[in-house]
Amino acid sequence: MTRRTWRGVLRRLEAVLGAVLVNACGRAARADWAAANASPLNPWTGGCGRCHGRGMDMLRMHEIAEAGHRILNPFTEEKLMLLGEVCRLRPAQRQLDLACGKGEMLCRWADAFGIEGHGVDISEVFVPLARARAAELGVADRVTFELGEAAAAVRAMTGAATPAMTEPTPADTEATRSDIEAARAIVDAAHADIEAARADIEAAPAERRQYHQYDIASCIGATWIGGGLAGTVALMRPAVRDGGLLLLGEPYWAEDTPEEAYAALNMLGGEFATLEGTLDRIEAAGLELLEMVLADGDSWDRYVAEQWWTVSDWLRENAGSPDAPAMREYLETSRRTHLRYQRRYLGWGVFVCR
Ligand SMILES: C[S@@+](CC[C@H](N)C(=O)[O-])C[C@H]1O[C@@H](n2cnc3c(N)ncnc32)[C@H](O)[C@@H]1O
Repeated sequence: MTRRTWRGVLRRLEAVLGAVLVNACGRAARADWAAANASPLNPWTGGCGRCHGRGMDMLRMHEIAEAGHRILNPFTEEKLMLLGEVCRLRPAQRQLDLACGKGEMLCRWADAFGIEGHGVDISEVFVPLARARAAELGVADRVTFELGEAAAAVRAMTGAATPAMTEPTPADTEATRSDIEAARAIVDAAHADIEAARADIEAAPAERRQYHQYDIASCIGATWIGGGLAGTVALMRPAVRDGGLLLLGEPYWAEDTPEEAYAALNMLGGEFATLEGTLDRIEAAGLELLEMVLADGDSWDRYVAEQWWTVSDWLRENAGSPDAPAMREYLETSRRTHLRYQRRYLGWGVFVCR
């Protein structure tokens, strides 16, 4: 077997194993999302972690509650566009948006500022809507969306173990088996070829690597994808060019937050800080804070209060659904905790860093 054939064997093995890993990661991540959103870490649910005991998939809960939203965070359209201006976006800049939701940020910024972008999200409901929005705004040639787990996708992009998100077909498996047989024969027969193949193993991922290709990487309201702010920064950094921007959408606590608010919002874990504490965390992650746009009570209402009507309608139309009790509890808890604590004590903003 020639060196070229070896390279084919190894590439195919790599692709098949990688695809298995990506799919396993995606399934695990959906479970992680459920766990994160059922835990005290969750900034979005206003304490609906308690609903998790009813066995409803928490991502599905958000897909229902945010059916009427385009922006899945406490920003209004005005704040979203202000953020684009603040970031000094220019035509043809490239942005990677992790946990992109319905893709509103990339689509609107492509339309208004001429950027290009790629979004990744785990929701089978949100990703097709993001693609539809890109088509509606006439930016589908500049903005693409991928259904996948963000951490696995970005690692694949920057050269770690996970390439394309496709199930290996039986033909792949069969081909791989015979390739392995062929490879065994070669290992016995030609040590020189094995050395050459080793060089090819090292060379192949490098060819795939697309380090530092983006001008901007963003994770708006989902830093659990990297296990918190620092982990998400570490995840995003290899994708961004030197001097590029990292946009982090994070909650923060008001200085005078009473203890009972943490419990009521199911956030006892201390993963969010005050505004100044958030600056400390950003700096500890090795970034400089350049700018920020913050939500306010009114923009929180557009995110949270707008869900109430949507869920109320859903409950009227789906009274017999097995998900109805969990959705009812979500609605009741959301109303009460938002009015009592969230609107007042839980801030949220997008921090523009370099
Ligand atoms: C609060 S929403 C924010 C969406 C979007 N960034 C926005 O601001 O409109 C969180 C998003 O994270 C997605 N998500 C959760 N876990 C994920 C993961 N591990 N990989 C990719 N997306 C994920 C959800 O599907 C959801 O769209």
